[in-house]
Amino acid sequence: MNQFQPGILQLIPAQACYLNFEVSPQAETQAVIAALKLIKTKNTVVGIGQSLLDHIGKSISGMKSMPAQSANGITIPSTPVDLWFWLRGDDRGELLHRARSICQQLSTAFTLKSTFDGFCYADYRDISGYIDGTENPEDDDAIAAAIVSGSDDSLGGSSFVAVQRWQHDLDRFESFSLKHQDDIIGRRREDNVEFDGSPDSAHVKRTAQESFEPEAFMLRRSMPWSKDLETGLMFVAFGASFYSFETQLNRMIGNEDGITDGLFEFSEVREGAYFWCPPVADNQLLLSALED
Ligand code: HEM
Repeated sequence: MNQFQPGILQLIPAQACYLNFEVSPQAETQAVIAALKLIKTKNTVVGIGQSLLDHIGKSISGMKSMPAQSANGITIPSTPVDLWFWLRGDDRGELLHRARSICQQLSTAFTLKSTFDGFCYADYRDISGYIDGTENPEDDDAIAAAIVSGSDDSLGGSSFVAVQRWQHDLDRFESFSLKHQDDIIGRRREDNVEFDGSPDSAHVKRTAQESFEPEAFMLRRSMPWSKDLETGLMFVAFGASFYSFETQLNRMIGNEDGITDGLFEFSEVREGAYFWCPPVADNQLLLSALED
């Protein structure tokens, strides 16, 4: 199997910068692929959106646009992005320089549309204070959940990632009692224990990976984001397909039983998109799937 992008499996870094690029309308396929080949994948995870595949007239089996949805008073937006970067590091200055250099390198075919800064909070906590990632699969299980295996050489080592920018209303969250906050998640903030008797709306009950048929494991690598004093979670979930993400979100928005996830009491999805993360070789994207 080809090598997957290493940042997918590594734990989240101390600092991150997310970059969203738009392809220039006049950029031709060869120019787009040439620009993609300039990207160095060390400390960087790169995802290609369906809209970019459409632009260059290519398709990737299993790839599609994130559907916009609305159910039970909840709106899940779809905000397509052509090319997505998750820059990983521990020095904000180094990330800024890297972001600038990527913009310069790609300028023949792409324009920067937006950026968000991400960070690791305390011991891998969401900014609400709850530890995030506890039930992530590890080692071989993480690879099985997140990476495309199989014999198709050009796609093996790929991953599909769902990215959603959730914005929290922390004033509202802090107005709830600790018991109510713990009930929203289904784990105690104090000791991270998943306790008995949480409501059916508890987030960990909505998303319990073994409770789906087939089981719905995914590799979450989310990080808190902030801009001015706005904040929330940049939810990032890698899968060998979009099945686990879609199945879980479907239950979160109450499509199975009318019960919506407690998270929606204080947080909403502001942006969301799907990406295909190609495999890598020698610190470069392996793009044979786009060149056939
Ligand atoms: C505001 C956004 C979100 C926050 C703050 C959040 C936070 C958390 C926290 C604190 C946990 C418990 C610890 C852990 O196992 O990681 C958790 C578990 C989990 N979350 Fe989220 N989450 C968010 C959105 C989502 C979304 C959109 C999905 C999927 C569509 C999701 C899927 C999961 C899964 C699969 C688990 C583990 C469940 C299990 O098997 O026990 N989360 N999340």
